[in-house]
Amino acid sequence: MIKASVIADVDFSVAPLDRRIFGTFVEHMGRCVYGGIYEPGHPTAGADGLRGDVLELTRELGPTIVRYPGGNFLSGYNWEDGVGPKDQRPVRLDLAWGSTETNQFGTNEFIDWCRIVDVEPMFAVNMGTRGPDEAREFIEYCNHPGGTALSDLRRAHGYEKPHDIKFWCLGNEMDGPWQICKKTATEYGRAAQETGKLMRMVSDGLSLAACGSSYRAMPTYAAWEYEVLEHCFEEVDYISLHQYFRNDDDDIAKFMSALDDLDGFIKSVAAIADAVAAKRRSTKRIMLSLDEWNVWYKAHGPSDLKKPGWPQAPDLLDEIYNAEDALIVGGALIVLMNNADRVKVACLAQLVNVLGAIHTDTGGPAWRQTIFHPFALASRHAHGNTLRTQSDGPMVTTLAHGDVPVLMHAVVHDPQTGRATIFALNRSADAPMELTVALRGAGEAMTLELATELHHHDLKAINDRDNPDRVTPATNDTARVSGHRITAELKPLSWNVIVVATR
Ligand code: AHR
Repeated sequence: MIKASVIADVDFSVAPLDRRIFGTFVEHMGRCVYGGIYEPGHPTAGADGLRGDVLELTRELGPTIVRYPGGNFLSGYNWEDGVGPKDQRPVRLDLAWGSTETNQFGTNEFIDWCRIVDVEPMFAVNMGTRGPDEAREFIEYCNHPGGTALSDLRRAHGYEKPHDIKFWCLGNEMDGPWQICKKTATEYGRAAQETGKLMRMVSDGLSLAACGSSYRAMPTYAAWEYEVLEHCFEEVDYISLHQYFRNDDDDIAKFMSALDDLDGFIKSVAAIADAVAAKRRSTKRIMLSLDEWNVWYKAHGPSDLKKPGWPQAPDLLDEIYNAEDALIVGGALIVLMNNADRVKVACLAQLVNVLGAIHTDTGGPAWRQTIFHPFALASRHAHGNTLRTQSDGPMVTTLAHGDVPVLMHAVVHDPQTGRATIFALNRSADAPMELTVALRGAGEAMTLELATELHHHDLKAINDRDNPDRVTPATNDTARVSGHRITAELKPLSWNVIVVATR
């Protein structure tokens, strides 16, 4: 048994945790929209075509904000194609994913879906084939109350009240050679500045996110962020990051250390944004939007990205998640919580079928993939402030990051309810861990409300149609509370949530 200890004090916090870090992503891609959230004729779908089983699972997953409509799809998308009478909507080629887009689902249907699930919509404007002119028209359609051609068009489409969409991404992965109309940092930075400016002229109170690098290994990483922000620093509030975790070498220790990559990535992008601010002698702090993240490496061949013959809603990026992937997702959530001072928004990519937390059969059932569970637990139990902690315990030597702690943890305390939640990942492959947490400033009368562990003896175990609950959380009955101390035994390679009431 290895031992680790954590000290936290409810009066010392990193920052209030922004609940928008529990976001997810719906792209017009594969079966995420069609056959995912929308499937007219499905036994659980209503007259609006929204799948009732997916609505229910989405509510249980608990996202707070959902990004739409892409992704790479965005860079060739005309928003006008997806509004108005469905029988008049054009069918188009989607060049990003080699698919046929019927446009039977669009902006207004997505807003309806968001209102039903009770999530904030996070929209994106096309900065590939289009730009500022389209963006100013789209936001007028969405957010202007009425009395102009485009706002009245929305009203004529049955949406009297403005959608009032506040969070907008200015394009997607504009540095990527695969992107429809990739741009240089100069081209994109200038366009983002002017597009943001026009959007703010149309609508008040917007939050705008500029595209950072598509991923950290891009050759232009860092130089891209710096130059883009030099151009659009005044107009944007966020810079985006995307990170997908991989276990190509089937090496669990290396896979676990990818979580340290995410922490380093976040800190380095914050440093770049602050360098731009410093050069301008500005006190403004650009915040981070990790608006795509997940595990993605198994469904990575050419046929996972495109199918021949321009099919409608083909199976793409059908990543089937296993128990070790769920640990990575849980660990990444710990990293996000601990970076609460800079990461204000994050989107698990994606919600359903395409790299999905939820998986469906077209015409059949829907079920929770393994990664659903850490996300749902974190979203349900992380409220309030992320606490600063002092920890002690065994270290492990990694190739990329030197010595890193075997225990990954976050402690979140809600001053409103008095609840504190400990998230803990034991990264050891063979040693159980005795964890002790001293929670100072919370009084001596704590009670245990919940102790849950996510663990499976077979790291490759998956959930599927026949066994949808093979990998699922279970009670950790070793957790105890005594005075201001919490103790628990954490199984090797387990992700744990412990909730205590502090008054
Ligand atoms: O989430 C799948 C794809 O990954 C997105 O469309 C793109 O932005 C990223 O490369």
